[in-house]
Amino acid sequence: MRIVLLGPPGAGKGTQAKAMAGELKLAHISTGDLLRQNVAQATKLGLEAKDYMNKGLLVPDSLVTMMLEDRFGQADVKNGFILDGYPRTLNQAKTLDAILARRAMKIDVVFDLDSSEAVIVQRLSGRLVCRKCGALFHRTNMPPKREGVCDQCGGQLYQRDDDKEATIKKRLAVYRSEVAALLEYYRTAGILTTISADDDAAVVLKKIIQKARSIK
Ligand code: AP5
Repeated sequence: MRIVLLGPPGAGKGTQAKAMAGELKLAHISTGDLLRQNVAQATKLGLEAKDYMNKGLLVPDSLVTMMLEDRFGQADVKNGFILDGYPRTLNQAKTLDAILARRAMKIDVVFDLDSSEAVIVQRLSGRLVCRKCGALFHRTNMPPKREGVCDQCGGQLYQRDDDKEATIKKRLAVYRSEVAALLEYYRTAGILTTISADDDAAVVLKKIIQKARSIK
């Protein structure tokens, strides 16, 4: 099964994708995580992407497409995947279809995680990420057992550079300017399902898994 997760920053795409990957035995492909890995390793791609990310802007398509093609070349993708953070524009949706068509694949379902602005801001301002394994926590919603320490691997938790108020606002504005065309594209293709993402993470996951299993 091949799944796309859409939704504003903070809707819970990463949280849900990690849980879904375990439940459905699918690869989790997050373009945000891949870009952050490149930034942390100071690769050529990371150095080019960093400024866009810190300003809350989209990284140019040429860089993201190259990175994605590379990820699609890895073995685990053959058994199915969850795309988190891609596509973000109509152009990226069309590029994705072309990349998959060359591999005789297509997207089966697109989940649009619908979330209110108040919830988004609360989630992003309290988000904590493990530097080592990428696990997600929240200061109040999902606090780690020990402050500043990842429950899963003992790694150090940090706040993302783009989770500052001004950058959150810019990311939201970019999202809103692109999303209507993207939703229309997938609605027309008949593969769009909207899920209310303001609920508890376990409740959201249950709705997604139910729908995914009904398609399988
Ligand atoms: P990316 O990393 O994809 O960020 P994003 O889309 O802004 O989404 P987030 O990761 O902020 O939020 P999320 O929906 O995953 O929420 P999460 O699960 O963490 O992209 C970052 C940047 O990279 C972009 O701005 C851009 O520059 C660049 N980029 C990436 N992809 C690109 C592309 N395709 N093209 C061009 N540029 C690209 O949850 C948030 C918090 O809430 C966590 O603390 C979590 O614990 C908590 N939480 C989650 N769900 C719940 C719940 N149900 N109840 C309570 N708390 C919850």
